[in-house]
Amino acid sequence: MQPAVGDAKYALFRDHKTVGIAILLLSLVRLGWRIAHAPPPYASPLSFLEKAASRITHWGFYAVLIGMPLSGWLVASASPLHAPTVLLANWGLPGISWPDIPLVGKFTFAQKVAVTSGAATAHDGFGWAAGVLLGLHVIGALKHQLFNLGPVMHRMLPFGSSYVPVKVSDEAVAQAAQALKDGALVLMPTETVYGLAADASNPAAVAALYEAKGRPRFNPLISHVTGLEAARKFADFDERAVKLAEAFWPGPLTIVVPIRDEAAVCDLARAGLDTVAVRAPSHPAAQSLLKAFGGPVCAPSANRSGRPSPTTFEDAFEETGFAVQASLDGGPCTVGVESTVVAVLDGPVRLLRPGGLAREAIEAVVGPLAEADDDAKRSPGRLVRHYAPDAPLRLNAAAPEEGEAWLGFGDGFHGPLSLSPNGDVNEAAQRLFSCLRAADRLKPRGIAVAPIPETGLGEAVNDRLRRAAGFVG
Ligand code: TXA
Ligand code: MG
Repeated sequence: MQPAVGDAKYALFRDHKTVGIAILLLSLVRLGWRIAHAPPPYASPLSFLEKAASRITHWGFYAVLIGMPLSGWLVASASPLHAPTVLLANWGLPGISWPDIPLVGKFTFAQKVAVTSGAATAHDGFGWAAGVLLGLHVIGALKHQLFNLGPVMHRMLPFGSSYVPVKVSDEAVAQAAQALKDGALVLMPTETVYGLAADASNPAAVAALYEAKGRPRFNPLISHVTGLEAARKFADFDERAVKLAEAFWPGPLTIVVPIRDEAAVCDLARAGLDTVAVRAPSHPAAQSLLKAFGGPVCAPSANRSGRPSPTTFEDAFEETGFAVQASLDGGPCTVGVESTVVAVLDGPVRLLRPGGLAREAIEAVVGPLAEADDDAKRSPGRLVRHYAPDAPLRLNAAAPEEGEAWLGFGDGFHGPLSLSPNGDVNEAAQRLFSCLRAADRLKPRGIAVAPIPETGLGEAVNDRLRRAAGFVG
């Protein structure tokens, strides 16, 4: 006998079916998406057990979310009482008649009773399994959030790449230092750009770093230290290099010098060279982390290969947050472009990459800089196209054309995309990458950029803009 329509319990039962069929359809779409798209890499490094637990939980969810409504549908189709399935009928809508599972209607009464009871048991079982999996999911997220101090939780939350700032406390610094010792990756703020950091002496950690960035080949990395004393433990500083370090460290200058202790900075971090790039960042959080860790830490910019460098924690997290076990939110970077790289080897001091310290300041200490020659090939910052947003760039533009985002400079206009309303090249350097990202998010036809003078940090800004535009620098 069919229950009377309007009976509250029956109405609830119909809603239950509507929800169930919706779950079935959405889960099938999600499964199709999952099969067509590879999932993001694991937060590195996960133990074998953690990976297994994560796999089982995720595939378990697919099984439950599809099995639960399927078994319910089988109950509804085979039930000897047979209440027809009408979707959406309780909400003043016309209602959609949902078919029974084919052939089930042809079963004998006894077969129907058996199928109904079996499917109902399975349906209940799936309900319990869903509860257990949900619990495991939440426990896993809490473990990563509270015990590993990693940002894994943010990636699990529905608002995707949003983040909760990880305050720079003594405890967070200690956790980050421990993560480095364990061979894991860490998001490290510096005054130039956010870095993706790893223990420079640990080849496995450095390999994981290249993998997370998706670097097409192994380019040498910068080893970060607290200062000159720490750097001299593993690298040879001649008189000129010492002068430069004393003048500009901690700060946005990287000095390439001969390596002395090859184990302190592994081959992979140096790309097999007998030289090493060293820098002492001035950001207090970076200094605390380096002090707590006690050895050189290699850290390229935290972007995935070929993308603009991140200058806020939020951008850094969006780029490579999936790969880290700990992170420190040091606020927006004050310099905004990567450090200037000079080589202090045989011959004159050479400029390998213009950056956050102006050429003029360096030349005041060691005299005129020679240009990079062969070293240029080794510099990813010297690849023709690098630091690139998706939209095409038009440089030295007098005004934007239709459909273009406009990155102004010195026009007094205080728009969100203005590099510097008052024409200050330091401010333009600081805002460059975040303005490129903000412009790109508008999905414009192109991005037009006002002319920037070549003086001071203007050299680095123009260098990054030319590379982003795809011109040979
Ligand atoms: O501001 C910065 O320098 C940032 C922050 C995070 O500190 N780091 C950074 O690192 O930009 P990365 O790995 O993206 O850039 C390293 C640069 C490249 O241009 C590389 O070719 C050069 O330094 N480099 C490293 N070791 C070198 C070596 N032994 N000889 C010549 N160039 C070297
Ligand atoms: Mg970079």
